[in-house]
Amino acid sequence: MINSTMTVRELAVQVPESTRLFETLKIDYCCGGNKPLAEACESAGVEVDNVIALLGALGKTDSKDAADFQQLSLNDLITHIIETHHVFTKSEMVRLEALTQKVIDAHGANHPELLKAGALFRQLCAELTPHMFKEEQVLFPYIAAMEGAASHDQPRPFAPFGTVANPIRMMMREHDAAGDILRELRAVTSDYKLPSDACFSYQTLYQAFAGLEKDLHQHIHLENNVLFPKAAALETR
Ligand SMILES: [Fe+2]
Ligand SMILES: [Fe+2]
Repeated sequence: MINSTMTVRELAVQVPESTRLFETLKIDYCCGGNKPLAEACESAGVEVDNVIALLGALGKTDSKDAADFQQLSLNDLITHIIETHHVFTKSEMVRLEALTQKVIDAHGANHPELLKAGALFRQLCAELTPHMFKEEQVLFPYIAAMEGAASHDQPRPFAPFGTVANPIRMMMREHDAAGDILRELRAVTSDYKLPSDACFSYQTLYQAFAGLEKDLHQHIHLENNVLFPKAAALETR
């Protein structure tokens, strides 16, 4: 039964389709997911009772795909995160770097907010590149090795970083930093509102920023709310 004291994170995990609703209502379900629904609705300026009613309706049509993330092995979840979200983020960072410069060159003089958006985008890339590298090279292989050891009833592998809670905490802090940059990017572009003289490249850029944001929300949600809690639980088995 859904109620207003449940955290946004619990809801995002239990009713996977809720993430789409949260996205539409601008309710933060990835980095700010530990807030109770009532508080999150208040911050987003929406009526909590309406949101509960909408969530109740969603729960009845749970999509199989989304629910499956909870059932996946951690190794398969990691593969999904890398193949879907890391690959997409890396290719968008390359594509949008060139597009951002092109739009700034053409419209930066008339639209100075583009310069701020460009600087924020570069800051986001500078955060995400080493972040994903650390996940792929250190944390994810360790989680997969820990799961492998558990399935053979073996002791957990040696961890150079002590407890797995340490790199998880670091990754979550970096997610918060990326979330802050995304919020700023939205603010400086007035929610990606296009000016009347926006050319096709300008439109493409704002659509792509919004798409990158949406994908990062789902990506961070899967790590913060599904993968990391399961990895932490596995360590203390
Ligand atoms: Fe990631
Ligand atoms: Fe991450």
